[in-house]
Amino acid sequence: MKAIKMAENIYRVGANIENGDLFEGMWPIPDGVSLNAYVLTGLKTALIDLVRDWDNAPDELTKQIDELGIKKFDYLILNHIEPDHTGWLNGFLRKHPDTKILTTKKGAAMIEGFYHVTENVSVVKSGDTLDLGKGIELVFEEIPNVHWPETMVTYEKSSGILFACDAFGSYGSISEKVFDDQLSEEEHAFYDRESLRYYANIVGSFSVFVQRAVAKLADLEIKMIAPSHGIIWRENPSEIINRYLKFASYMNGPAEPEITIVWGSMYGNTKEVLTSIIEGIRSEGVVVHVHQTPDEDVSWALASAWKSRGLVLGMPTYEYKMFPPMSAVIDMFERKHINNKKVLRFGSYGWSGGAQKEFDKITEGLKWDCMEPVEWQGRAKEEDHKKAYESGKALAKAIKEM
Ligand SMILES: Cc1cc2nc3c(=O)[nH]c(=O)nc-3n(C[C@H](O)[C@H](O)[C@H](O)COP(=O)(O)O)c2cc1C
Ligand SMILES: [Fe+2]
Ligand SMILES: [Fe+2]
Repeated sequence: MKAIKMAENIYRVGANIENGDLFEGMWPIPDGVSLNAYVLTGLKTALIDLVRDWDNAPDELTKQIDELGIKKFDYLILNHIEPDHTGWLNGFLRKHPDTKILTTKKGAAMIEGFYHVTENVSVVKSGDTLDLGKGIELVFEEIPNVHWPETMVTYEKSSGILFACDAFGSYGSISEKVFDDQLSEEEHAFYDRESLRYYANIVGSFSVFVQRAVAKLADLEIKMIAPSHGIIWRENPSEIINRYLKFASYMNGPAEPEITIVWGSMYGNTKEVLTSIIEGIRSEGVVVHVHQTPDEDVSWALASAWKSRGLVLGMPTYEYKMFPPMSAVIDMFERKHINNKKVLRFGSYGWSGGAQKEFDKITEGLKWDCMEPVEWQGRAKEEDHKKAYESGKALAKAIKEM
């Protein structure tokens, strides 16, 4: 990868993580993720955000910085202290010992906590500015909890670039075509999907703070959005802002008029009824997304559940409770604020059941409007399939009317 010019004296540098590791130690990234950092060369030089010592990212970054002919940085601006953007800090400071770090007050405390660095750290707050010379002037704005409590963004006045860190980001490696206007429809569709999955996995819980951050940034004339993961929005920055606002709005519902099914089955008795439910939903012309657990990671189910008004959860009874992989999915849905959904549960049992009882207990605190479940003993009979079809249809009808 090469450094990419974004505006006069402003460059994107960074690396793709493609070594098969999970993101945050838990989210699959089969198509990688990019760690973006930004170099500003006024009379003073600044680097915005860093990388983690991960899949050779520091070497990649160093190579691109060398290509730009930069020998020293006056400032390292850390918008967010999560290790994907700071992990290489001690190594970076060994190379550039005189760099002054700028971060928020909470950020400074975290830098001490994570990296034991206290020297040359200056605290900035919302509205503070930094003039780098050659017309480059930065403004800092705190956007707490997008994604951690210390998070801020950095705005450059002359170019109108917002360096947004985790906000407006996406999974997916990026090529040297980093700008939105360079991508094909197919590539956009890919980042569209991966931005939703990233949002539901990483940012969704903080949706209220996303809304507050966007409101706070409303007065800035944003001409380009430069996140620290994913593509840079130069032609149409409002597209990703509006997309994030739309994603944030799904938390309180109603989301899209679609239905997400997540199911797990040991011997196929629950699986058999899935088809009847899908047919019932489709008879109303409603889009349905189907995810199997534990075969597929919950990351994808989270993404489609986040944007769906309706949920169907299928699992048999297992040791008087729910089939464990499905209880893990529901636990994740609770943690990730999959709220305000209309929900149908279905599943087989062998003798006395028990899955429904646990389901009712676990979902009590969630803002779910649950329909009458579809349950049967062993292999479903014709009447069970009919009930499943009718329930799927009723759910589809209900979400169309929301
Ligand atoms: C390990 C195991 C534990 C089970 N525990 C219960 C149970 O506690 N109560 C019950 O009614 N059925 C229980 N069953 C029976 C299943 O719920 C039943 O076989 C069901 O049809 C499985 O659905 P599936 O084919 O979709 O996996 C258990 C089955 C297995 C294999
Ligand atoms: Fe983060
Ligand atoms: Fe991040």
